[in-house]
Amino acid sequence: MKVAVFSAHPYDRNFLEEANQREPVPFDLIYQEASLSLQTAAFAQGCDAICIFVNDMADAGVLEALNKLGVRAVLLRCAGFNNVDIDVAERLGFFVARVPAYSPEAVAEHTIALIMTLNRHTHRAYNRVREGNFMLDGLLGMTLRGKTAGIIGTGKIGSATARILKGFGCHVLGYDPVASPDFEILGERVDLTTLLSRSDIVTLHCPLFEENRHVINRETLGLMKAGAMLINTSRGALIDTQAVILALKSRHLGALGIDVYEQESALFFHDRSSDIIADDVFQRLMTFPNVLVTGHQGFFTIEAMREIADVTFQNLRCLAGGTDCPNTVKKA
Ligand code: NAI
Repeated sequence: MKVAVFSAHPYDRNFLEEANQREPVPFDLIYQEASLSLQTAAFAQGCDAICIFVNDMADAGVLEALNKLGVRAVLLRCAGFNNVDIDVAERLGFFVARVPAYSPEAVAEHTIALIMTLNRHTHRAYNRVREGNFMLDGLLGMTLRGKTAGIIGTGKIGSATARILKGFGCHVLGYDPVASPDFEILGERVDLTTLLSRSDIVTLHCPLFEENRHVINRETLGLMKAGAMLINTSRGALIDTQAVILALKSRHLGALGIDVYEQESALFFHDRSSDIIADDVFQRLMTFPNVLVTGHQGFFTIEAMREIADVTFQNLRCLAGGTDCPNTVKKA
């Protein structure tokens, strides 16, 4: 079975090759540095399946093109599947599978890294001390013990984040349409308005759907406590970035930490250091001292990369053997 692996960086190849070597009959993996789009779909010519990541686009047009090439499966190396048109995939008979949980703790720990960095300004302290500036002005933080953290989406990552915050001595609130027993032993389930109005830190851990696109907008930002911190390690489009910029400018929003960005596909996972970045919204974000952006690295630990590779091969084995796959993605 031949698989076109899109958005394949050297680290992806290393972990996939390591897992492939354990297969009794290794799969034929064709690595493409390019991300999947209508322009690059043809690279899957002659392949049975494609293997994609968060910023590869498998919309209706791309799926139609892949179908014409004889591709019959989409293997996601990630949990979120908002980049795949599941309706069209089902209509065309594609097998679609994902890696539902590669390391919730990896993303939760990165969420904490964003919170801690923004709160104690270690990103600024690092630069200052290297330049021989040992002043503390501008580095004042808050003690997390006793503060309220609001988790939007109390699934695997949300609950892992709640567990760590609870360890800091925070009071934890959670908003989720579905109750989670894992979360309920850690915190209090509330509605969204209550969460926003009571939290010193609001952190997003829900999947992106059309219904919750821009769930953080001008109105919901207005419900947040003045000076609160907003963290998003989930999906960029959960936040209306223009509204967030206004809230930062008015100083209502105290700090922003994001590992995801609505227009990230043009930037993240690429070296743009010699380019002129044309995204003025992103560039405006970069000017705030209380904004920290990382380039979708929440998942990026050795353990998570191994899990992604292992589960991708489990999914491939199901496809090849025609057996039931626990990780298939179906229409809700
Ligand atoms: P999960 O499926 O375990 O939990 C998601 C939770 O969100 C569920 O409990 C669900 O009921 C809830 N939910 C659904 N719609 C909601 C809404 N409108 N408002 C509030 N809650 C809602 O998923 P998991 O593993 O915790 O992942 C969460 C998200 O994290 C993924 O969908 C993905 O977007 C993101 N992610 C980010 C990574 C990164 O590297 N930054 C890596 C992996 C996942």
